[in-house]
Amino acid sequence: MQASPGKDMTPLRHYLTFLDFSREEYEHLFARAAWIKGEFKSYRRYWPLEDRTLAMIFEKASTRTRLSFEAGMHQLGGAAIYLNTRDTQLGRGEPVEDMGQVVSRMVDIVMIRTFGQDIVERFAKVSRVPVINGLTNEYHPCQILGDIFTFIEHRGPIQGKTVAWIGDSNNVCNTWLQAATVLDFNVHVSTPPGYEVEPERAGIYDTTHFEQFADPMDAARGADLITTDVWTSMGFEAENAQRMKAFEDWCVDAEMMRAAKPEALFMHCLPAHRGEEVTAEVIDGPQSVVWDEAENRMHVQKALLEFLLLGRVTP
Ligand code: CP
Ligand code: NVA
Repeated sequence: MQASPGKDMTPLRHYLTFLDFSREEYEHLFARAAWIKGEFKSYRRYWPLEDRTLAMIFEKASTRTRLSFEAGMHQLGGAAIYLNTRDTQLGRGEPVEDMGQVVSRMVDIVMIRTFGQDIVERFAKVSRVPVINGLTNEYHPCQILGDIFTFIEHRGPIQGKTVAWIGDSNNVCNTWLQAATVLDFNVHVSTPPGYEVEPERAGIYDTTHFEQFADPMDAARGADLITTDVWTSMGFEAENAQRMKAFEDWCVDAEMMRAAKPEALFMHCLPAHRGEEVTAEVIDGPQSVVWDEAENRMHVQKALLEFLLLGRVTP
């Protein structure tokens, strides 16, 4: 049964970038995610999405995103269908708009992982149901939703805090920058020369929440959280050899962690390459919260599915 628009008359909303929700809506989502996580941990059934179906379209590989959405949808009483480029007509040139028309007549909500942001936007434009960005070349909003929830769980509100981003100015970095403008915290970014943040591509129009540093140690100094990601993102494999050289000095190591606040956390969206963007000592060390971060993807996305399909649910 189609939920949106329809049965519940919940207004049609999409989640394509971090800027799509207000600060107040994020506060609601984080509170719901905490409640939903508590129910899950207590083995209590919560099935608000019984009879609802999520279609998950993957044009790139995934472990966490697929698993967290699929398991999450089942835990909410619904069903999830996995589609990938190889096995669908999308891989044989069917226009994304045609796919959007068809898929959104059969399911209640859609998640897409693809290349250009324009693809999710084109899909959403024709979709009858909410569309979630499960990663594009430009953004990864579900990741930062999980990361900020994890930060709040460990350290309380993120407002006014400093996040140091060390490495590539990629989709995850862009989303941190967007989140900083919505939730009012600061991001210190250090990238190798030639890989700097481009505010327009990052989708940020308010640049008062971030600062770029040539030296990663300067970016790390006094930070509440240090985070990084692979040097070569999916879709950029042809640049791998060149990137391996350029990013050599952008490895988060114990010395960099010591430059941050003593209580600083380390995060990585995963998958990680130990010995490249982070040392094993840091990612497997006491300041790292990467496993909580991965698990929390599921809890926040359950809150997101609930919000997009049912609107504001109060306990
Ligand atoms: N962090 C993340 O999105 O992981 P996957 O690529 O495994 O989905
Ligand atoms: N920046 C990485 C994130 C993977 C979850 C990529 O796009 O490949």
